Amino acid sequence: MFHDRNSARELVAALPRGLYIDGAWRESSTGASFPVHDPADATVLTEVADASLDDAMDALTAAHATQDAWGATTSRFRAELLRRAFGRIIERTEDFAALISLEMGKPLAEARGEVAYGAEFLRWFSEQAAHLTGSYAPAPNGGYRIVTTKVPVGPSLLITPWNFPLAMATRKIGAALAAGCTCVVKPAPQTPLTLALLTQIFHELEVPAGVVNYVPTLDAAALSLALMSDARLRKVSFTGSTGVGSILLRQAADRVLRTSMELGGNGPFVVFDDADLDAAVDGAMLAKMRNAGESCVAANRFLVHSDIAEEFTVRLVRRFEGLVAGDAFDPASTVGPLIDEAQLAKVTDLVDDAVAQGARLRTGGKTFGGDGHFFQPTVLTDVPDTARLAYEEIFGPVAAITTFDTEEQALARANDTEYGLAGYVYTRDISRALRFAERLETGMVGVNRGLVSDPGGPFGGVKASGQGREGGATGIEEYLETKYLAVEM
Ligand code: SIN
Repeated sequence: MFHDRNSARELVAALPRGLYIDGAWRESSTGASFPVHDPADATVLTEVADASLDDAMDALTAAHATQDAWGATTSRFRAELLRRAFGRIIERTEDFAALISLEMGKPLAEARGEVAYGAEFLRWFSEQAAHLTGSYAPAPNGGYRIVTTKVPVGPSLLITPWNFPLAMATRKIGAALAAGCTCVVKPAPQTPLTLALLTQIFHELEVPAGVVNYVPTLDAAALSLALMSDARLRKVSFTGSTGVGSILLRQAADRVLRTSMELGGNGPFVVFDDADLDAAVDGAMLAKMRNAGESCVAANRFLVHSDIAEEFTVRLVRRFEGLVAGDAFDPASTVGPLIDEAQLAKVTDLVDDAVAQGARLRTGGKTFGGDGHFFQPTVLTDVPDTARLAYEEIFGPVAAITTFDTEEQALARANDTEYGLAGYVYTRDISRALRFAERLETGMVGVNRGLVSDPGGPFGGVKASGQGREGGATGIEEYLETKYLAVEM
């Protein structure tokens, strides 16, 4: 059924509000709960249970208790289960989309896109699960055989962000389950509802008790420290800021935990003078405005050749001014609100700072929408290198344009950042495109393309943007150890 705001709120009222531990829904051991807000008007949607440290430990106990049995299931069994979960999510596309729109704010059409993207990770990993391989080879000096096989890493803590509440969860849970790992999943406190529905689906599909545990909390720092200090946990996977990721990496070092870190970005979007401008502007819209700019792979810095910069800017401004920022449930809306007050304040400060330092405001620049967290789609030119948004991740609908004259200049500027998640390059010269992409210090490059995200592509960054890859042919490896048997003949 298609939802409007009222029916979406009814869906929320029917969702479990508790924690899901060892195959059952339950209250927090302290009885505590916390509110989930609608970013469109800051009203409270519902309250969900706030997991205590005891609850977190119960979740880990359940995950640990069932690890051996889950790891011993056939990969075909796990593949079938994930495939059925994929189908169930697709069947419930409208429910998932409504929850995503309600708690995260993105327009319904975009939320449906996230449902397709998120479900696809489960199908992708179901296919991966069934194709785990090993090797058999003679030892180089003879005498025995070198046999390798893959074994699950073990119970994993999966910490998911608010910007893609379904897709970032399925990207981790799908890989973990496919590999044979059990998990404790902690959603962002802004968006626990989508994951509650996903958990309900796992329950309906009879995923064995303890395999997936769901523990929303307001005190993520305490919960992750407690779990990561426990010898039964073997892995932590986190998507979020570089600041938090560094703290988790330090904690992980104490117990030499396996880690996957998908952290901040500062994506350069480079347009050469021979680029197809229509394609570059289309790509810019996608790379910048997907999710209202609240994405780690968002284009953060537009570097445009000076000969075409004004034409590119005029076209981009026209497209930005054609966007309709508004209620996610209004079919006319193409951009939703930012997630919360803090994010709105940050984006406002970044724009004000750039303008105060001499950047030219070409459109937008203001908040609007009463108690909602709306910011106008904004284009700035002449952005000085000292402006904070030139080196900080914006996470909002703001395009900051600067110019360059030579390829070397563009490359130096693009790489002049501690981050290295995604970059984009537009040129008709294929040699230059590949040369530039190879020298760009990022884990992913969109070549004449404004979107890199794909379950079949290895998602991840270099430098302060993280380590490890999610999705793609190697995504499942993040949850596997290679075991080597030396077999005497
Ligand atoms: C992210 O912003 O963390 C990931 C977005 C994506 O998968 O495209």
